[in-house]
This record gives sequence, structure tokens and C-alpha cells, in this order.
Amino acid sequence: MTLHLRQSTPALLQVNAILTRLGGPAALAEVCRFLRHEFPHFRWVGVYRLEGAELHLDGWDGDQPTEHTVIPVDRGLCGRAARENRTVIVGDVRSSPDYLACFLETRAEIVVPIRSGGRVVGEIDVDGNELNAFDASDGRFLETVAERLAPLLAPPPPSLPS
Ligand code: SME
Repeated sequence: MTLHLRQSTPALLQVNAILTRLGGPAALAEVCRFLRHEFPHFRWVGVYRLEGAELHLDGWDGDQPTEHTVIPVDRGLCGRAARENRTVIVGDVRSSPDYLACFLETRAEIVVPIRSGGRVVGEIDVDGNELNAFDASDGRFLETVAERLAPLLAPPPPSLPS
């Protein structure tokens, strides 16, 4: 589905407002909840944080929880987006050999890296129930959301010696 600027611009303002009001895991959960309710083709939205060679689910919103709360970076579409440091859009998950199934209804998926200083610190993962649910416009929008979320996932700066 093409996501127009008239939808994505106010949505980004809402994301900014959430991040002004909330921090930490509550902010991630609220951003996921907001995105899922704002865009009907986003049927499950999660944020994974990269910790070593694993992705850890830090916030999500959807009808059901996923069993994949920890994903090694060598597995899944989530792992592929983290390893390759690029947005992955899969129109038909059934034709993707590295897809890790979570929900019976899922037909398409988009995974967008969250970067800090150019390095992957996490990612936004969105599942859709229609074939080819996502296109480059979803990617551009979610990449901007990812920039907003980066400070929540980036490791804290080293503390100064006392
Ligand atoms: N499908 C993902 C796993 C995460 S769930 O969609 C929530 C993958 O292939 O990595």
C-alpha cells in the first residue's frame, strides 16, 4: 500500500509527541500501538533491540504475542535486515526461505534497521496480512520513525572517570 505524505507527516508528529511524553519501554510500546492503529495494513508492529548477536523484542503491539522474542542475527528476515544494515521488504513471506513464521495470517513483512552512528542498534518489524502489503513508501516512513527511536536503543555513552 502506498503511504502518502498526508498520512505520514501527521503520524510523525504524533510519534514525536509520544517520545516527548514517554521514555524507555513505555515509549516503544506506545509508538507500536499508535502505528498499528494509524495504519490498517500494519497488523503487528514490534521493536527489536540488538544485543550482541541477538535481537531482543523490547516493545510490540498486535492481536497476539510472538514466540520470537529473541532472534539470533543469523536467522529470519529480522536477522537479515540487521546483518545487511538495510530495509527488507518481503511481499510474500511464503516464498522467503529465511522467514521465521510467527502468525498464520501474515503474508508480507517489512523490517527497517534502527541506526546510531550508522550502526544497527535495533529494528522495526511490521507484519501485514495482505500479499505485497508494503512498498518503498512504507520503508521511507518507517526509516524516519527509526531515526526518532534510535536514542531509546543506542547504548549509553561511557561515563566520565570521576
Ligand atoms: N518474521 C520475523 C520474525 C519476527 S515475527 O514476524 C514477529 C523474521 O522472519 O525474522
